[in-house]
Amino acid sequence: MWVSDKLSIDPEYFSKLSMGQHPELLYIGCSDSRVTAEDLMGMKPGEVFIHRNVANIVIPTDSNMNAVVQFAVEKLKIKYIIICGHYECGGVKAALNPSDMGQLNSWLQTLRDVYRLHSDELDQIKEEQKRFDRLVELNVLEQCLNIIKIDHVQRAWYKTGFPQVYGWVFNVRNGELIDLKLDMEKEFEKIRKIYDLKPTT
Ligand code: CO
Repeated sequence: MWVSDKLSIDPEYFSKLSMGQHPELLYIGCSDSRVTAEDLMGMKPGEVFIHRNVANIVIPTDSNMNAVVQFAVEKLKIKYIIICGHYECGGVKAALNPSDMGQLNSWLQTLRDVYRLHSDELDQIKEEQKRFDRLVELNVLEQCLNIIKIDHVQRAWYKTGFPQVYGWVFNVRNGELIDLKLDMEKEFEKIRKIYDLKPTT
């Protein structure tokens, strides 16, 4: 059905796909079944390289993530990396409510660290829903920073000015895709003295 649908629109569809991929975009998003990358961006197969995990987290020792990012940056030479979080994210919610989650504990620790880093701001938000939403946004910011802390990302960045990193939030309550308009140069400037890996030669 899906095959015949595609072929009815373009008989060359699969032979074109088999020629290779040249996406300009790496999308890193949550595994949540409601947040489907191509759908929400209106993109077709071949247009976006994708990595998804619980709560769209970038952990430097995650070899799956590292392989995806390195391949995207060095081989595909993608120009843009988008970290996309979403409101009502179960992973973020769990991080706000400490309890023993078994296997998930170590994964959620990264999110709890984001909460701790921003607890001054978050604890001032009285309304629970708004605090939850804000942690979703701050998690996106921190994961964008985690991307530019990665050595091969910085190498490419210093050499070509790419990839550029963007932070988005998908609002599952109304379908809106929100660009957090993070100025990554400015954000990186704040932590450059700690994380700058620019070669000195
Ligand atoms: Co989620």
